[in-house]
Amino acid sequence: MGKIKNKSSNYKIIDDWADFDKSKIMSLSAEYYGEKGIDAFSRVKSSNIIPSETSCSYAHAESLALLLKNQMDINPDKKLFKVLELGVGSGLFSYNFLRASEKLGIIDKVNYCVSDFNENILVKIKDLEFLNQFENNVNFQVIDLLNIDNSYSLTNADYQLDDLDLVVGNYLMDVFPALPVKFSNKNIGELEKLQIKVSQPKNLLDANLYSNDALFKNLKIEERYVAYNSNGLSDLEARYIDLFEAYIRKNDSRVPRIYPYGYGSLKALESVVTRLSDEGLFYIMDVPYRENANIKPYDTYGNTVANHVNFDLMICLLEQNGNSFRYTRNDYYGRLLVARNDKLLFDFSEEFEFIEDFMANNPINLYSDLIRAISMIKTREGVPVLGTLIDSLEKISPNETTTHLIRADYHTIKKDYANALSFLNLAKEADKAGMYKVNTEISKIKSLMK
Ligand SMILES: C[S@@+](CC[C@H](N)C(=O)[O-])C[C@H]1O[C@@H](n2cnc3c(N)ncnc32)[C@H](O)[C@@H]1O
Repeated sequence: MGKIKNKSSNYKIIDDWADFDKSKIMSLSAEYYGEKGIDAFSRVKSSNIIPSETSCSYAHAESLALLLKNQMDINPDKKLFKVLELGVGSGLFSYNFLRASEKLGIIDKVNYCVSDFNENILVKIKDLEFLNQFENNVNFQVIDLLNIDNSYSLTNADYQLDDLDLVVGNYLMDVFPALPVKFSNKNIGELEKLQIKVSQPKNLLDANLYSNDALFKNLKIEERYVAYNSNGLSDLEARYIDLFEAYIRKNDSRVPRIYPYGYGSLKALESVVTRLSDEGLFYIMDVPYRENANIKPYDTYGNTVANHVNFDLMICLLEQNGNSFRYTRNDYYGRLLVARNDKLLFDFSEEFEFIEDFMANNPINLYSDLIRAISMIKTREGVPVLGTLIDSLEKISPNETTTHLIRADYHTIKKDYANALSFLNLAKEADKAGMYKVNTEISKIKSLMK
């Protein structure tokens, strides 16, 4: 009989039962963002990329440029509108927003701040020069949203973090610490928090965190729930604990479920809302927490953790602070629009109809449906349908790398290699940050053409 291998001996414990929000995987995640920078979003440099296609699409960016245009129409005398994008990642949303502003004829009134907590990301975006054509409208700020007072300019520009007209945070709230909490099965009415024990394969050295994007996928993560009480709360956790308790008691449905305590996103939300102008809006798009005990309240992408965002809890904070909001969500993303005052709740004038439409019928919904539908069609018989879907995609997200690559694939399926090659060349031209493997695709097509 062969020997039974003791699997656990191949692992080294790197965290021995820590609260989820203070665990090693959260600190590694922040380090990964810091070290990997823009490459975390590159299909060329990463095998396990962080999703950003939908958030950064032209369709999405243009909808926000239209929202800004609407604000400009309401305030025709205002000369300059301050737009701040937080946690920009690849910078492609910034590029598409500015491109859309130019197309809409509002670019002269736009002052766009490109920001991230990682200075390297901003330096890289600057060096890649794809925002150069908008240099009169753009500045770069290092902003750590959990430590906003320590923000600084990359170019020594005098930029004040106040009076903001539009602030955008795409897939940003999910990076902040959040603690999954649930009601105890044993002690009725008592709360329990998630702790994890993390082990990593011994053959993967620590240095692999950045070079091996699949490290997180190989971690062994064990879970347990233990009593949640006021001992050892971090400052931020303590700051919102009363709000969280009130929320959790109000929402106690007696059905087993997890209540993520996203205190990091609460702090981030407050930091921004207090810096909005009177008419200013804060737009948040992120992966929503779904009230289902069987769905894990977090995912990992690359070596990062994405906490599913507890929008309901954020809304409790907005209500407590007298801010107004609009919120919508589907299975893939939640979208929250916030104003400092009660404007969004009580102003039903014609000008604000635009906002209803922006929330309910945003082109991002069609974009994400189309991308999913297109990826499902694999057969030659589906080609005519594919053509129609791609026509729709080109309408809402024109001249984008993804769109061109999809069109090139379509021609490849039809064995129309000459057309495939011309779309690949367009994709190469559009891929300003060099994020896609366009050259590899071009070589493949050229060899098929021989
Ligand atoms: C999931 S990515 C989203 C990137 C981009 N917005 C998108 O939609 O593709 C999160 C971004 O937030 C940045 N980030 C992480 N922690 C942050 C913090 N404390 N303050 C500001 N930005 C942060 C990361 O560097 C990264 O660029």
